[in-house]
Amino acid sequence: MASFTINGQLVDVDADPRTPLLWVIREHLKLTGTKFGCGVGQCGACTVHVDGEATFSCLMTIAAVEGREITTIEGLAPDSDHPLQRAWIEEEVPQCGYCQSGQLMRAADLLARNSNPTREEIVAHMSTNICRCGTYNRIIRAVQRATRDV
Ligand code: FES
Ligand code: FES
Repeated sequence: MASFTINGQLVDVDADPRTPLLWVIREHLKLTGTKFGCGVGQCGACTVHVDGEATFSCLMTIAAVEGREITTIEGLAPDSDHPLQRAWIEEEVPQCGYCQSGQLMRAADLLARNSNPTREEIVAHMSTNICRCGTYNRIIRAVQRATRDV
């Protein structure tokens, strides 16, 4: 059993405490915007915020998030209107889309700390997240666009 807050809602989850947070988010809570890519902290598809910090949910057990606050892509902004989500649409970033929730959560973590990052800072911050479709340039443009809006 573990209790934590997800997207503003307190939840009690009946699962082995060693269960990865990603499994619980997708299978127990049915929040399927967060994706399973590698399962070993190498791709970033599973990125969520834990107490406001971008975190690989495949590497975190539910015991480790007891009492903490989780935000998934579904809770990033009401009506999916975070400046980054708007910029993602305007720059037509996604191709297959599989990595994009993780990319957005990672980028949101950057803008929360630094509302005007340089291109180099964006590239360095986003380097943890892989896109097999190669949308990297559009991601950078979208983050730059969003900085004009935060
Ligand atoms: S699924 Fe978590 S980093 Fe790849
Ligand atoms: S858009 Fe296809 S993996 Fe990134």
